Amino acid sequence: MYRSHNCGELNAGHINKEVTLSGWVQKSRDKGFIVWVDLRDRYGITQLVFDEERTSKEMLERAQKLGREFVIQVKGKVIERASKNPNMPTGEIEILVSELTILNKALVPPFTIEDETDGGEDVRMKYRYLDIRRNPVKNNLIFRSKVSMEVRNFLSTNGFIEVETPYLIKSTPEGARDFVVPSRMNEGQFYALPQSPQTFKQLLMVGGMDKYFQIVKCFRDEDLRADRQPEFTQIDCEMAFVEQEDILNIFEDLTRHLLKEVNGVEVDKFPRMLYDDAMRLYGNDKPDIRFGMEFGELNDITQHKDFKVFNDAELVVGIAVPGGNAYTRKEIDKLIDWVKRPQVGALGMIYSRCNDDGSFKSSVDKFYDQDDLAKWAERTGAKPGDLVCVLSGPTNKVRAQLSALRMELATRLGLRDPKVFAPLWVIDFPLLELDEETGHYHAMHHPFTSPKPGQLELLDTDPGAVKANAYDLVLNGNEIGGGSIRIHDKETQATMFKHLGFTPEEAKEQFGFLMDAFQYGAPPHGGLAFGLDRLVSILGGQETIRDFIAFPKNNSGRDVMIDAPAQLGQEQLDELKLQLKTK
Ligand code: AMO
Repeated sequence: MYRSHNCGELNAGHINKEVTLSGWVQKSRDKGFIVWVDLRDRYGITQLVFDEERTSKEMLERAQKLGREFVIQVKGKVIERASKNPNMPTGEIEILVSELTILNKALVPPFTIEDETDGGEDVRMKYRYLDIRRNPVKNNLIFRSKVSMEVRNFLSTNGFIEVETPYLIKSTPEGARDFVVPSRMNEGQFYALPQSPQTFKQLLMVGGMDKYFQIVKCFRDEDLRADRQPEFTQIDCEMAFVEQEDILNIFEDLTRHLLKEVNGVEVDKFPRMLYDDAMRLYGNDKPDIRFGMEFGELNDITQHKDFKVFNDAELVVGIAVPGGNAYTRKEIDKLIDWVKRPQVGALGMIYSRCNDDGSFKSSVDKFYDQDDLAKWAERTGAKPGDLVCVLSGPTNKVRAQLSALRMELATRLGLRDPKVFAPLWVIDFPLLELDEETGHYHAMHHPFTSPKPGQLELLDTDPGAVKANAYDLVLNGNEIGGGSIRIHDKETQATMFKHLGFTPEEAKEQFGFLMDAFQYGAPPHGGLAFGLDRLVSILGGQETIRDFIAFPKNNSGRDVMIDAPAQLGQEQLDELKLQLKTK
């Protein structure tokens, strides 16, 4: 038996008990005649004492040779500590060691296995198994497991069946590139790894499964960010005989259940916002509503003077920065530089200071008088002491720029408290989105999403105006889930493909299996998928999903620990009948 107890559970109640513990040497303190060793495992740290007088000189000498991260087993008696540590669950006791076995030696680790480590990101990723020994990473993984468990509990209790769907499939167009896998048995042919199990879960509805879920890996070859990984996990769900309202209710309940069980937070009914309102008020389809700073559109009150920049702009829009009038000229200049960075891309920023005496001082006083500026303040909700920041230009671009500024300022002002949770449904997304480069429309969610009732006809006349039965769940400014009510008849699906630029042959080639299935009694159905990594990281108070994934990829999509991706040997290439193009 390697252990009778773990390293986190012994306390004063165990005094005089003989115990066996196993774990890693966190650190040791050597006083010459006595050695203390902190023994660590997943559950905590227990102090060991090796004492020449109370045990033996031989035992002491062996303890003196223990290195950091050695794996050891000890037997000994639980005794009361002379100097207690009230900050540790095991702080009242220590183990007077009578037997020591070295189970494995360890090289000196390349970084300290402490909460605040000296290891940079790269080295920690290369030795991720050591990083996982650190509390912050370990606790995040335990937290993730708890969230997954609660998800399974909730969904099973509510009658959902977990069904596994294949990983080797044909590509589904969901906006990203596919990862592909060559087939040895089918020369020249490739599987694609699923971007999501979308078509399979719909087929499960045709199959009568009624309520499906799966905690499932998805693969997307897209540019990476803090909230994106090439392989990530979804809580994928689908239900038959449901309307949008049913879906919103059940998954709102799931999210509320998680907030309560995992975070101990009770949240009322989630607010709902139309997509168009989210864009108008926050410039963004995933607004962080933990704070205000809503957009005020200023076209009608700015485009009557000689200020050409505003007169020529499609949109003039501002926000009030609480307390922003305290910024010095230099600080405002820095803010202007910030919005002009290529990542944000604004050409400049106009501002108006709201003085405590009710007067205003703007960077365009030449064009706008006090009455004008008072209207700017009113429209943006600015109070004395605030700063109104205004951007102008093409609507979509300016909204994105001002949204970036809003989030940046809120972060600087400490308005994005990770312990406050503000969920929000964004509903009535457009069905189609215009790709400004190609001039073609593509499905904003995916091609299986149904238009709102009665809007199918609009597809011919004003495709951009068609709204979909599509919704996103937003938590603290992050899209943690999204879904839709699906098309469930062949004709509508064929019309949809036609509008997305597929010829009937292409539609049949790629999605014949789904349209065929629709002919055999497909029930009305819909669903949603949560991004588990995102959900877990936000519930955990952070926004970097890498920190909640055991073995994540870096920003170039590499696993630096196993060194993947890697080249294939010639033999393997030959077997797959693959020829690499040489430059
Ligand atoms: P969607 O593409 O919106 O919908 O994905 C659902 C959720 O998955 C998360 N997500 C990601 N998380 C980490 N890294 C990524 N690269 C990544 N991409 C997406 C997001 C997102 O909200 N089949 C549909 C769902 C449906 O219609 O039911 C789908 O995949 O949190």
